[in-house]
Amino acid sequence: MPIYEPGLKEIIEECRGKNLFFSTDSEKAIQDADMIFIAVNAPTKIGGQGAGRAQDIIHCENCARMIAENATTSKIVVEKGTYPVRTAEAIARVLNHNSRGLMHHVLSNPEFLAQGTAVADFKDPSRVLIGGQKTDQEATDKLVSVYVNWVPRDRILTTSTWSSELSKLVANAFLAQRVSSINSISALCEATGADVTEISRAVGMDDRIGSKFLRASVGFGKSRFRKDIMSLIYLCESYGLQECAEYWNHVILINDFQKKRFSEKVVRKMFSTVTGKKLAMLGYAFKKDTGDVRETASMYVVRDLILEEARVHIYDPKVKRSDMMAEFDYTCGINAKNTPKLDQLVVTATDPYEACNGAHCLLILTDWDEFKDVDYEKIFTSMAKPAFLFDGRNMLDHVALRKIGFEVHGIGKPDPNEFSDL
Ligand code: UDX
Repeated sequence: MPIYEPGLKEIIEECRGKNLFFSTDSEKAIQDADMIFIAVNAPTKIGGQGAGRAQDIIHCENCARMIAENATTSKIVVEKGTYPVRTAEAIARVLNHNSRGLMHHVLSNPEFLAQGTAVADFKDPSRVLIGGQKTDQEATDKLVSVYVNWVPRDRILTTSTWSSELSKLVANAFLAQRVSSINSISALCEATGADVTEISRAVGMDDRIGSKFLRASVGFGKSRFRKDIMSLIYLCESYGLQECAEYWNHVILINDFQKKRFSEKVVRKMFSTVTGKKLAMLGYAFKKDTGDVRETASMYVVRDLILEEARVHIYDPKVKRSDMMAEFDYTCGINAKNTPKLDQLVVTATDPYEACNGAHCLLILTDWDEFKDVDYEKIFTSMAKPAFLFDGRNMLDHVALRKIGFEVHGIGKPDPNEFSDL
């Protein structure tokens, strides 16, 4: 499997060759299908109009052209990826300009599953959203009849195509906004002596607010959140809604601020210099249970620290070094050509103990469960002193770690050395 996703390998092994087939013969696959899902990527544009914000739907357009060319009967074409509002209209226009005079239907059916829990989310979704226009009613009913096999009917929502497309962007923007909201409060907590975990709990018990997605962290990762908010900003700007665009832009700005604040704190606490020091990092993926490193907060922290000439030794159970380096180059523009010492500055370790041996500090960047079971006494003994620990996920027992001898800093957690009244 090219990606790590708990439970996916087992499903593919069970279904492959029975009711799941992989093929590169797109012509035949299109001709045989009644329903075709478009799930190709729509990356953020890197040049031209809307560069850095707008999504490029060229791959969707190419899929539509391929279907238009090869289909011999009318198809239901389903947008499964997250695409800008009114992509369905573009797809429909391309599809329905075909030489056979066929009318295809285009539905929007965005996917809400999260990585690491994708299989469970798919089997038991909070909701299934299907967007279609009035003329697509029959096609909508057919897609509903697929989901109704395992999803209760009242969790299947049908809306207009445009509401469905926009809902997906808004859902991701709201989730990201919650993380940025609590992260902005974490900075205030560190300044005032309040504890962000206590705040999350107190605030989240109000069921109008809810308790989920209020975990302060070093910042949200993955390209999805950033890409969708950028797309939302571009959409607002396109319709002259500058104030709305600025509102959503601040979600991104707080996330950037949070990552920067973390690396600046690491340097400041370590006597304002990390030059030549070995720093250990546990976790690189953007969250636990995935090997995905796109837009991961860890990458920005590593970038800041190697610019200070630190040597960062990273252990992550599922991240491949090649993926790490490719994303580093793609997003930060740092590679072995322009940074000849890169292999000495960014080292990957095969276990946490190797990463931490002789290190001046330990950084926790991903919330992998296995990091709770590491032998921190053993790690403390092997580290340079004072041994700093920066918990970017607030996932460890800070009281126990301080007893071992670590100088611990969490996110939005008051430093007992600064607040004598705690
Ligand atoms: C997200 C949406 O949750 C999903 O519905 C959509 O289909 C795709 O995008 P995903 O990116 O897989 O899913 O991960 P998610 O669990 O949402 O976490 C995103 C980022 O926010 C991670 O970096 C995570 O660590 C961070 N996060 C999440 C926090 O920092 N604090 C929280 O309280 C929750």
